[in-house]
Formats: sequence, structure tokens, C-alpha cells
Amino acid sequence: MPAKRLPIACALVLSLPSPPVHAVVPEAAADARARATEQQMTDAERFSLVWGLMPMGFDGKRDPRVPPDAVPSAGYVPGVPRLGVPALRETDGSLGVTNPSGFRPGDTATALPAGLALGATFHPALAHEAGALVGREARARGFNVLLGGGVNLARDPRNGRNFEYYSEDPLLSAAMGSEAIRGTQAEGVISTIKHYSLNDNESNRHQLDAIIDPAAHRESDLLAFQLAIERSGPGAVMAAYNQVNGVYACGNAYLLNGVLKGAWGYPGWVMSDWGAVHDWTYALAGLDQESGAQLDAKIWFDQPLRAAYAAGRLPKSRLSDMVRRILRSIYAIGLDQPRPAPAIAPERHHATALEVARQGIVLLKNQGALPLANGKQRIAVIGGQAHLGVLSGGGSSLVTPPGGFAAVVPIGGEGNMAALRNQYFVPSSPLTELRKLLPDASIRYDAGAFPAEAAALARRSDVAIVFAIRHESEEFDSPDMSLPFGQAALIEAVARANPNTLVVLETGNPVEMPWRGQVKAILEAWFPGEAGGQAIAEVLTGRVNPSGRLPMTFPVDQAQLPRPRLPGLGTPYGAPVTVRYQEGAEVGYRWYTLTGATPLFPFGHGLSYTSFAYRDFTVSAGEALSASFTVQNVGPRAGADVPQVYLTAAPEGKRARLLGFERVELRPGEARRVTVPLDPRLLARFDSKAGRWRLAKGTYRLALGKNATELVQAAHLTMDSRLFGH
Ligand code: BGC
Repeated sequence: MPAKRLPIACALVLSLPSPPVHAVVPEAAADARARATEQQMTDAERFSLVWGLMPMGFDGKRDPRVPPDAVPSAGYVPGVPRLGVPALRETDGSLGVTNPSGFRPGDTATALPAGLALGATFHPALAHEAGALVGREARARGFNVLLGGGVNLARDPRNGRNFEYYSEDPLLSAAMGSEAIRGTQAEGVISTIKHYSLNDNESNRHQLDAIIDPAAHRESDLLAFQLAIERSGPGAVMAAYNQVNGVYACGNAYLLNGVLKGAWGYPGWVMSDWGAVHDWTYALAGLDQESGAQLDAKIWFDQPLRAAYAAGRLPKSRLSDMVRRILRSIYAIGLDQPRPAPAIAPERHHATALEVARQGIVLLKNQGALPLANGKQRIAVIGGQAHLGVLSGGGSSLVTPPGGFAAVVPIGGEGNMAALRNQYFVPSSPLTELRKLLPDASIRYDAGAFPAEAAALARRSDVAIVFAIRHESEEFDSPDMSLPFGQAALIEAVARANPNTLVVLETGNPVEMPWRGQVKAILEAWFPGEAGGQAIAEVLTGRVNPSGRLPMTFPVDQAQLPRPRLPGLGTPYGAPVTVRYQEGAEVGYRWYTLTGATPLFPFGHGLSYTSFAYRDFTVSAGEALSASFTVQNVGPRAGADVPQVYLTAAPEGKRARLLGFERVELRPGEARRVTVPLDPRLLARFDSKAGRWRLAKGTYRLALGKNATELVQAAHLTMDSRLFGH
């Protein structure tokens, strides 16, 4: 379709979006109360708030310093009962309430799909519901702090923790992360936002030094944090394990005192990641609380910090500030208020997990093979333990689902998290669910262990569906983008035996697909959570019309990546590693625009069983900046679309950036006019010298697209030059 130019002559008067109200108690009141309480404290009480322990056992024994009322979990900080300050009872995580090492026997929780699945929904309201669900389940167990809100950008498709995060894009990650945080905090539970910043690779994360240009950092990972923090007001920020430009994130004065508390005016507290503190001086750099302190070489914020205080090296004002920040979040989110225990409706929570999985599944390719018809056909289901369940990621975010895991297959490895590097199967079997939805079909299962055996079954079937899985785990990057355990060869053998072969991927990252031309359809189901098998079966059979869109670019292979070789690959556990993020802010789809390479599947891509048309794309300037368009369902079925607005060029040249999006559900023939707000920071560049955002004078070209590369309509804006914000 030819690009349509809409000249807009006026210069803009830009106003930044005003931060929404997110605190339960007005900010000023929370600040005043925090000041008043802190003033009444003894120094011993002050120091008791600035470090916490893991209230669970090591070597099977409980730490004697942990009081008996602490619920076994990730973190505990005692309260000050005489002043009504509650203890902080902290649990992971973003994908559901965790039960590390099964320390709370029999305690299972709703296991949500991966963060990437939620990101793929492009549906912030669903993220809100997911965040609220975890908040309720946390509070029902006595927790009042959720270690959630992972908004690190998925920069590298080999990063072992991408499955916990939302996307490669700052706007999408902030839109989803902020709603999850708001949902949690509306339940009276503080949420963190984490891991600040650039913990974007896992290999040797404790030694990792992330090198980046500071302006590019502001326009990428830090922009995701900035947008999410101002939209949701998380009570705490968790600083990361790694170094940023040579300084550990937990002791990084530029990141903590400078950007977070200075430029952004963040009023809450900064806690460390678990085992990420290396010195008491981190308190001077802006760290307010040491977490999981047994994991550090010393409890730096206990004796060493007291000694520094006694010697006058930690000013009294700084100690008071650390404590006040913690207290103000407690008051702002209402942790000190009596609240009845929430009534949990497990079926409702299961329904939310199902809905996230449904909306997050992305149909990548479909040559008329899907949806499957319900008839007397022979279907071969092959591999991926599809008879047992669906895969989940490993690490601190791991949730034990109702009924426990269907199977746990140890992978092994070195380091602190090796015991959690397993294939975890959540008991929602795609095979069982397909049989329910296709009662007239004859469905046979083959484990996929031997390609020849699987091919033999495929040959005598009408359709073959291969389930391909790839485990991911905290602290482990994958060495490359392949499917492990010979699954590519399995897919190729099956596809040779049956031209009607479909592939369902359960992965926490993009994978390479050398076999893509030989199969009829490809579905990315991510780690789809406790209702994942049902959601996959519903999409395959057309009960659910797929609407997920890729939150990460799928490269053809790793030669297309900014770092074709994974930094630190093959070095022993604990070896120093430097990751040079030389792509700067040009992460994901922006890298492909810059290099001109064509990815396998672009960011924002996802097919449907119906089709959509766009018209009347306009942009409007004035008090606020916005884009409007009409989207219509022009196909035969009801479905949801996600039209996306991109910047395609700025005055200085070509530049790709997601500016806005909206998930729209439409009946056949139905049309809707949509307006999305545009944040001027997404058009601007960060000027490090001025410490402000800079808009250059000239023409900005925008496009309405189906994804980052399929752009359907164009418009443009003319702007005056301007410095704004921080
Ligand atoms: C992770 C954090 C987590 C913490 C507590 C760390 O290993 O990086 O995301 O919140 O453990 O479990």
C-alpha cells in the first residue's frame, strides 16, 4: 500500500504525561509519616531495617537468626513493633508465588505463563490482572513484598532469563511491567521493579561488566525503568548483580544517586539482589538495603556499616534517608494497615493463567494447515513430553503448580543455581487436551527420542505435530540459538515423512529454525504455565483465534546478532566477563533497521485465523501527542489484532522505534477507531551533557504497521527543537 503523507505544519507544545496516582496513601502523607516514625527510632532500630536474611534453611537447617514467625521464602526484614512498623516478608516472583526448595511443604500456587508470553499479549490490562493475582496469593501467605517487575530488555536471545522479562522494547516492557506492578500494589503488597540495570546476560552475572554508552543506556534499558516507575510507583527497586561500565550496579552512584534518585526523583528504596553487595560503601552510592545477606561475603550493612557510622563515614542524614525510604513505601502501599486475608478463588486464577497463555501464543507461520479440523483424521503428536505437560523456566521465578510438577529432569551445571537448572514440566498435557477437543480423531503419541520411529508414525498419519522444547534457567545463558537434544533433526525427519507437519515451540527465547521451509505451521507457545496444554490445543483447533505478537525479534541465526558469539562462552563459572552492548539503544528490531538485515520473524509479528485492514492513520500534535487509526476485521472470524505505531525516521535519518500499540478485539466486519498517546521521549534522543531529552527540529516520519517491518500507512510530524524532561 502506498505511503500516505499527512503534512502537519504546527510546531509542538509538548507536555510530558503526568504520572498517574499509584499510592494507596497520598505521597506527601506517606513521606510525612515516614519522617515522623524515623525520628522516633533508635539507631539500633534504624540499622535493623537496612538488611535482610533469607528465611529458609541452608543445608536443610533454618538460620537461627530468623525469627519463628518468618514465612520460609526469599527474604525477611524484621519490623519495629513498638512503632507499628511491620516486618517485610518477601517472596518471588513475577510468574506466581514461589516456594523455593519446597520449604513450605505442599504449598503450590498459580503458575502463570512466562513474562515473554505476557509480553506477547500486548495487553497491559491482562498484565494488571496477572500482577493482582500474584499479589493476592502473596498476601494470603503472609507476604507483603513481591520481588516482581522484571523489566530488563531481552537484548540477547541466548539470555537464560529472558523468559521472565517482557520484551526487547522499552515501551512494551514498561507498559506491561507497570501494569503488573500496579496490579500487585493495589492488593496491598509492595512490588519491586528489577534488575536495575543491564543484567541482560546471565553467564557469570556476578562478574559481568556491562559496557554501554550512557546516553544509549538512557534510551533503552533505563527508559524501560523510567517509564515503568513513573506509571506504577513501585515501592522498591532491586539493583542488579552485574557491573555497569566498571561499577557494580548495587554500588553504582551514577545509576542510584544520579539517575534513579536524582534525575527521576525516585522516592522509594533500593534493595540489592541476593548476594550482590561487596562493600558497606554501597550505602553512600545509593543502596538502601542489603538483601539475602547470608549470600554476601559479610553482612556489610550490619557491623561494617555501624562501624562506618560510628567513625563518621556514614552520615546520620544518609542512614535516616535509607530508613525513611523504606518506611514511605510501607505507608504509601498501606502495609501497616490491617487488611482481611484475601479470598482466593483458584478457578478464577487458573482462568487468568489460561487467558494469558491463550493471548500470548504466537502463530508464526501457517500455510493453510491450521486450525485443525475435527474429523476422522490420524494425528501424530511427537516429542516435548507432550503427554505429561508443558515446560517451565528454572531459577528463583519457578512456581510449583497445583498438584506439583508432572516431571523434573535435571540438566546440571556449575554454580549457585545449578540445582534449579532442570526441565520442569507443568501438568497441563497438550496431548490430553487435543484428545478432548478432537474426539473423532485418532491421536497417537511418540516420544520423539528416535527420529526414525517418529517418522514412521508421521508417515501413517494425516497430520504430524512436533512439540519442540528448550529449557532456560537463571544464571545460565544458552550457548547458541539451537534446539537442544537433536530436536532439529527430529523435526526434519518428521517433515520428510509427512508434508503436513506442524511445530509447536515451548521456548523462553527465539530459536533458529533451519527446518522452517519444510513445515506447514509454526506456533510459539513460550513456557505457557499451568493451563498451557489447554491453550495450545485451543489455538491448534481454532477454539481460540491466535492474537499473540512477538515481543522479541526472531533472528535467522546468531550471525545476525550484535554479538554473534556469546560473551564468556565456555569460560569457567566465576570467570570475569565483559559484555559490550555496542548496539547501544538499537536493541532488537532497531538493530535490524540499522543493519538492514531481514530477521526470520520481526518484532510484533503474529498471524490470525482472520484478517485486519487499517485506514485513516493520522497523528496529532498540540498539548499532547497522539496517533489515531481505524482497524477493521475484514475476515470471517472474530479475533484480536495489535496495530502498532512506529517512528521510521527522525530529522537526522532513519530510526525505528515502537511508539504505541493497542490490542483490539473485533467481530467479523467490525471496525474501531483507536487513539494511542505518544510519549515525546520516544521520538527524542537523550542528551547526556544537558541531562535532558532533546528533540531535533524537523520532520518525524511515523508508520502504522502489522509489525516492525510490515508498515501499512504513513504520516509525519514537524517539530521545533526542544530540550525537556530528565
Ligand atoms: C534473583 C532475583 C530474586 C532473588 C531472590 C536472585 O537470584 O536474581 O530476581 O528476586 O534471587 O530470590
